[in-house]
Formats: sequence, structure tokens, C-alpha cells
Amino acid sequence: MKVKKRHLVLIGFSGSGKSTIGPLLAKKLNCLFFDIDEQIVKNQKKTIAEIFKTSGEKYFRNIEAQVINKAVTSKKMTVIALGGGAFQRAETQKKIREMAIVVYLSCAQKELYRRLIKKTDRPLMPQTGSELKEKIRTLSAKRLKNYQKADFIIATTDKTTKEVIQKIMMKINHAYY
Ligand code: S3P
Repeated sequence: MKVKKRHLVLIGFSGSGKSTIGPLLAKKLNCLFFDIDEQIVKNQKKTIAEIFKTSGEKYFRNIEAQVINKAVTSKKMTVIALGGGAFQRAETQKKIREMAIVVYLSCAQKELYRRLIKKTDRPLMPQTGSELKEKIRTLSAKRLKNYQKADFIIATTDKTTKEVIQKIMMKINHAYY
């Protein structure tokens, strides 16, 4: 593995499994796990929804970029789960790609919808069925180009957590060890 690329960053749309896969993958790799959204909530002492409501998305994106910058400069190998929009900012993306192997957890929109319709904590995701469907469609289309810049793309639809982890392990073992 290139010395600088000591971390593994998980990217993908809300509901793609980053926060579920992340800690389990870190355990398998015997390294740390860091969830960017969780850290933002801790730092700000507010939920993500509250931050969006009181300070707006631009403020959230700036905080998000700061937390990511700090996480990727850590000396200890870490699996880092990003929020769904975090890989869109060019400077952040550049920094991440310098310091980490990037894995995109891709997931069919139907499956994302099935998972997200039950959730109420994503400020960018509408609560009604047709609006949520449309939001997933438009936002995915907008973000796909950046997601596809990952080092590895893992198709997760219909896969169990165990299978996704196995796939990631196979890819990184093959490419880096
Ligand atoms: C966002 C996704 C969320 C969170 C915030 C914004 C996005 O994270 O960072 O609500 O822009 O798609 P998850 O991907 O964990 O849902």
C-alpha cells in the first residue's frame, strides 16, 4: 500500500450502509473507525437536522470539511464513514484521495428508497414517498460522477453486510497487499 494512503474512506448515498459496514470493516482490519456525521453531532452538540435548521447547509458543509480534514490526517489507520454529500467538494475530495483508499458503496435507488422511507433524521430527504423517490433520483444523478471516482466500487444491493465486507476485503487485499 502507498504509505500515505493509510485510511479507508467509505462513500455513497444516504442509506448505502456506510455506518453499518464501517465499524465491522474496521474490526476486520484491526484499525479504528470514525463516523464523520457522528463527530459533527458530538462537536456541535446538535443533531444533523438541527444544524441544518439553525445554521443552514453551507455551515454544515464547512464543518463537515473541517472534520474530514482532521480525520484523514490522523496517524493511525482508520476506516472513515462519510456523509452522502461529503465527497462532492473538490478540495475535500482531493485531500481524501491523497490520504485514503476510497470505497464507494453503490446501491439501487429502489433499495435506498426502501431503507430511507423509514428514516426521519436526514434533513435533505423528504418524508413523503413520491418526493423521496424524486430526491433520490436527482441527487444520485448529480453525485454519481464523483462517487465513481472511488478506487473501488462495491455493488451492495441484495448483499448481506458480511458479503459486502468480504468483497471490500478481497479488493483491497488484491490491490494493496
Ligand atoms: C447528507 C447525508 C447524511 C448527512 C447529512 C447530509 C447528504 O449522511 O451527512 O444529512 O448530503 O446526502 P448519511 O449519508 O449518513 O445519511
